[in-house]
Amino acid sequence: AGFLPFEHEPYFDFARAEVAQAQRAAFRQVREQYVGRTFDLLIGGDPAQGNGTFAVCNPAVPGEALWHFQNATPAQLGQAVAGAQAAFETWRFSDPFQRASIFKRAAELLRARRLEFNAVMTLENAKNWAEADGEVAESVDHFEVFAREAMRWAQGKAVYPMPDEHVTTVYEPLGVVAVISPWNFPSAIPLGMALGALAAGNTVVWKPAAETPLSSLLMIELLFEAGLPRGAVQFLTGSDEVLGDPLVDHPGVRMVAFTGSKEIGCRIMERAAKVQPGQRWLKRVMAEMGGKDPTVVCADADLEAAAQGIVASAFGYAGQKCSACSRVIAEQSVYDGLLRRVTELAAELRPGLPEDNAAVGPVIHAASAERIRGYIARGRDTARLVLGGGGEGAFVEPTIFADVTPDDPLFREEIFGPVLSFTPARDWEHAIELANDSEYGLTAAFYSRDPHKLAEARRRIHVGNLYLNRKCTGALSGTHAFGGYGMSGTNAKVGGPDYLFWFLQTKTVAQRY
Ligand code: NAD
Ligand code: ALA
Repeated sequence: AGFLPFEHEPYFDFARAEVAQAQRAAFRQVREQYVGRTFDLLIGGDPAQGNGTFAVCNPAVPGEALWHFQNATPAQLGQAVAGAQAAFETWRFSDPFQRASIFKRAAELLRARRLEFNAVMTLENAKNWAEADGEVAESVDHFEVFAREAMRWAQGKAVYPMPDEHVTTVYEPLGVVAVISPWNFPSAIPLGMALGALAAGNTVVWKPAAETPLSSLLMIELLFEAGLPRGAVQFLTGSDEVLGDPLVDHPGVRMVAFTGSKEIGCRIMERAAKVQPGQRWLKRVMAEMGGKDPTVVCADADLEAAAQGIVASAFGYAGQKCSACSRVIAEQSVYDGLLRRVTELAAELRPGLPEDNAAVGPVIHAASAERIRGYIARGRDTARLVLGGGGEGAFVEPTIFADVTPDDPLFREEIFGPVLSFTPARDWEHAIELANDSEYGLTAAFYSRDPHKLAEARRRIHVGNLYLNRKCTGALSGTHAFGGYGMSGTNAKVGGPDYLFWFLQTKTVAQRY
């Protein structure tokens, strides 16, 4: 934004023995410090107990309960919204430079504790070291980016002048924002939405996914330590019955910022459209949803680079990213060779424990694995299985199907696991048509050396995040504004130059002297 120099947070190099040792020590520290503990809700700045607790389990170790969180009651939901409303009356007028300095301080605090945050995330959602580190580094970037964005949007915008009036256009916050997030990016995703809200002067009711609440709570405590007024974020955990529809429906909520599945995103859109008794606004909804992301490989492409990019984006974190490549569409002349190379590379990925930094860990839970196995079982009848297909409990082997037709669920539905489909295209233009043949439009990769094809891909591929000659995962905050087209959601573009506008309303003031 021109205020302060910005650099992306560098990743740890775990190939260095001392760094790996430090990460292992962080696991030991986290196990000593957190395992077996019960954590509270945060309402009106104070800890609170709910109606009993629930266990957060390690996806990689059947039966291992890590820590416990509270089941918030309907009354506590009301108190949290009221607490956020009360805090809004002061936070809305806070100096944006004060907001920025809190975020900058939080970035510093997080830098000093990255390995600890990595370890908590790995235990909660089974990311391996590099995946967890990528996300925690992204969280540092979010603090830095939103510090700058808070100051940038505080300046208002110029309008065409009038000779006899002084006219300003300024941006003001909305009110209470409900932040509802998924388990697959349990730090960076809720943090991005919450910082967008806070940077703009709103207050937050933060509802993490039940699988991964500690990754969220640690971020909130970090913000408080950095100087955020405690009422500005209310932290609620519990069941979807109490915190799903009722939070969205609450008349005190001004905006819902959601990231998760298409099913829940559509439900929130629909419910939030109804004006509840006592509600004095039309709710704003940000809903960032799923993907069925293609990688197109043209005959003239660097096939080794394409194969490496496909394997990293399809099987990193067991394919459980909205941005994951799940469809490869390759021109006929390179189809077999590419399939062979991708299969070779994927076969080298060793399954194992995320805590030991294995290449492929389990999926989030055994129920999700069962759902994924259902796709694999049906795929055996409709396509050609070339790799994997097995796995036990929460583990699903990297799986590749070839000759998948565009009407196959393998091609159409978000599986959210390590399952990749290959589909041949007559030529590169047909490949673009197939890439676009989806209700989703989140990310896509396109590999070619031909400037004309690259230019056509830019124009024609219908996604929010298009990557040319690189993999389709790994957007960086501040650089790759993230969010999709079509049924991938509202295209909010977190980390981008327009994101804060989502959390603001615009006031025009015209004054005559
Ligand atoms: P999910 O939709 O099941 O849950 C997301 C959140 O919604 C959770 O906190 C859940 O408790 C809550 N929720 C459940 N019912 C609700 C209701 N009725 N009202 C309000 N909230 C409710 O998604 P998930 O399984 O946690 O995450 C995986 C999904 O998220 C995938 O589809 C993935 O593609 C998507 N995702 C999208 C992005 C993106 O930026 N587009 C990023 C990450 C994940
Ligand atoms: N922002 C994440 C990525 O780009 C989802 O992979």
